[in-house]
Amino acid sequence: MISLDLRNAKLNEDLNKWQDKVSEAHKQLHEKTGKGNDFVGWVDWPVNYDKEEFARILALKKRMEGKYDTVLVCGIGGSYLGARAAIEMIKGLYPEDGIEVIFVGNTFSTTYISQVLKHIKNREVVLNVISKSGTTTETSVAFRIFKQWMEKKYGEAARERIYATTDKARGTLKALADQMGYETFVIPDDIGGRYSVFTAVGLLPLALANVDIEALMKGSFDAMNELNTPDLAKNPAYQYAVARRILDNMGYKAEYFVTYHLQLTMVAEWWKQLFGESEGKDGKGILPTSACFTTDLHSLGQFIQEGSKVEYETILYVDEMAEDLVFPSDPDDLDHMNYLAGKKLSWVSEMAFEGTLSAHSDDGNNPNMVIHLKDNSAYSFGYMIYFFFIACGMTCYLLDINPFNQPGVEVYKKKMFKLLGKE
Ligand code: PA5
Repeated sequence: MISLDLRNAKLNEDLNKWQDKVSEAHKQLHEKTGKGNDFVGWVDWPVNYDKEEFARILALKKRMEGKYDTVLVCGIGGSYLGARAAIEMIKGLYPEDGIEVIFVGNTFSTTYISQVLKHIKNREVVLNVISKSGTTTETSVAFRIFKQWMEKKYGEAARERIYATTDKARGTLKALADQMGYETFVIPDDIGGRYSVFTAVGLLPLALANVDIEALMKGSFDAMNELNTPDLAKNPAYQYAVARRILDNMGYKAEYFVTYHLQLTMVAEWWKQLFGESEGKDGKGILPTSACFTTDLHSLGQFIQEGSKVEYETILYVDEMAEDLVFPSDPDDLDHMNYLAGKKLSWVSEMAFEGTLSAHSDDGNNPNMVIHLKDNSAYSFGYMIYFFFIACGMTCYLLDINPFNQPGVEVYKKKMFKLLGKE
């Protein structure tokens, strides 16, 4: 399902030298004895997930079928990025089924919020508010605004259309939801925000968006089984984790996560959060950044080719995207493009990928790794997410970092609360 090509990675060390450290970290992840071990519920979640809640999600989707055309998802960070990445990767940017998913609660931008309010004026809406802590300010601000909008539009029936995903017992959002009579879904105690795509955090919005969540969970389950080996030779996720550490030691302090499809841009955003929040602490870590080629070759390409050498590239290459086009012939050929007539655009993209890889790696001397993913199905999405979860856990343990907290994020909150006059 996933293979890793390290032929252009330019590693100055043999991966196998890391085998003992990898075996030790693998044990810590699976036996829950490493740093942050209260938050490794995601490791065996694909088999331990809450089946009753999963059935409730499918039942809710069935019950509401035909009653909505718009899903508002209100959340920030790990409480929205996974669902957004999945919807865009699997369904594309302009889904054919007419269900629009709009993400709110991830910004204080009043322009954005006001424009969404205007945009949904004549829509049939359901609203899923998602917050593990139940107190995140961006989410709470937007939720109050959209909750009042729903109450104005639907009156008492608004409560049938609002769902809360939060802690099972604690927090402001849980108390509010119970008091209002909203159906609630749980973010388990031992799974942090950015590791929560396979819980109701991802599954409820995805089900409402008509994504096949059973296939997605099957992908995560297969990845969990196939990547559950400490043997570096057999585990591409661990190879990726080790290659990152070697490149870090070689002085490469930034990683470009490169995709070749605009509908994978949010996968890159999700990946940036996973690695950035997990690894960037104690003065350590690789800066996760991203680019979508060939689009960004016309903006960042110059720097990558000839600028200062701080970065390496990790290309997520999807071998078979669902849609393809054959480039048409034109009898007049005024644009001189007939040399491509009859060719599939996927082939053109593949040639762009190969040409760019050679330019950046051979001429530019940048290390490049290629992660090949079979396709953009829900199954592959589930597989890929688990691949990055386990790779991230491993690479952080190899760096002696707790991947499951984010103490630095609190600093801006404290300063902001002081300015806002929050008690
Ligand atoms: O990964 C994380 O834990 C964070 O990015 C959170 O998901 C984010 O801060 C939102 O938190 P909450 O779900 O508590 O609103």
